[in-house]
Amino acid sequence: MSSRYAHITGWGMAVPEKVLTNFDLEKIVDTNDEWIVSRTGIRERHIAGANETTATLASEAALRALAVANLHPGDLDMIILSTSSPEHIFPATASLVQDQIGAVKAGAFDLLAACTGFVYALNLGSQAIKSGGAENVLVIGSETLSRVVNWKDRNTCILFGDGAGAFVLQASEEPGGVMSAVLRSDGSGANLLSVPAGGSRHPASMQTLYDGLHYIQMSGREVFRFATRVMAEASQQTIEAAGLTMDDITLVIPHQANLRIIEAAARGMNITMDKVMVNIDRYGNTSTASIPIATIEALELGRLNPGDKTVMVAFGSGLTWGAALVEWTGSLPTQSPVIPRQLRWTARIRSAFARLRRRIEGFIWGRG
Ligand code: ACO
Repeated sequence: MSSRYAHITGWGMAVPEKVLTNFDLEKIVDTNDEWIVSRTGIRERHIAGANETTATLASEAALRALAVANLHPGDLDMIILSTSSPEHIFPATASLVQDQIGAVKAGAFDLLAACTGFVYALNLGSQAIKSGGAENVLVIGSETLSRVVNWKDRNTCILFGDGAGAFVLQASEEPGGVMSAVLRSDGSGANLLSVPAGGSRHPASMQTLYDGLHYIQMSGREVFRFATRVMAEASQQTIEAAGLTMDDITLVIPHQANLRIIEAAARGMNITMDKVMVNIDRYGNTSTASIPIATIEALELGRLNPGDKTVMVAFGSGLTWGAALVEWTGSLPTQSPVIPRQLRWTARIRSAFARLRRRIEGFIWGRG
């Protein structure tokens, strides 16, 4: 039996237009640019406007990724959308994206593993392809955490930004693509980073609103300590699982949560920072979107060439952590193409037809 591999053949990102700098934050909470830069490495972040949501950013990133892969949305078999800031408790944000991009024959579901979610989704998507269950999978990380951040809490509101990144995974017999992954969780640390209310444990009530339980709550120092411990460990495990050593890796692409965490992880891996992708200064922590966004910037900067191997490594609420090793193949364009007008229109027309069909069916069944 021939082997199947899951290659990354398309990629796209989308961030809101509005940029919030540290100096803007100085006017909102008791903080300053010097503190934020020295403690986190963040200088600015993108914040969603009124018409931008987790689904719209995801759809924009998805259409870009499909354009790079030269793949029609109708050929997608599965959409996995990783997010901690979904549009609703249900339906899944992935289903809204499926409709917005016109992926008429794709299954779609959300995946919640916080900032580690994209690594989880990448692994799940590649396993679906390797098992023969799918040919074309869209993996998305998308967040609008600005909607669940307490803008009066200087401990958290300075950290997060909004954005989305998407990869198209396609089946191939040529070795390469997602070669190994390590996924871990330790729920005993669930209380260290959470949005406590709005789910079944603490349904929305006047009291939960009053207590601010719909906002992100974080024990920063504990999360910091946990992150520096697991990043190097998970990277090493995924490299070993692929039968490689750190010398084989061209670039480590870590979750962009805090520059000091990234530097500590690099020390733990025994590598210098020139082997690590960092763009936290311009995006802040975009949670599950940070790894695809950093990867796409690495591609656009020409830091990845065919044959290169990268380790993507993340940690987050759960607690969760994980890493994936990707071998890059094929041509790697450094410029994302403009989304063809026809792709946008096809998506809109397909979505309109689906709505019309449901109306007609409703009318017929209603009369019967
Ligand atoms: N501006 C100025 N001062 C501040 C600010 C701010 N924005 N925030 C906190 N401080 C103060 C604190 O009040 C404290 O003052 P005190 O000593 O008088 O009490 C002082 O600065 C030091 O606070 P620490 O919490 O010790 O600061 P630390 O160096 O640990 O940095 C930080 C805090 C940036 C939050 C860090 O702990 C961190 O990055 N932790 C990891 C967080 C993280 O990565 N979260 C996301 C995980 S991914 C996901 O799943 C979403």
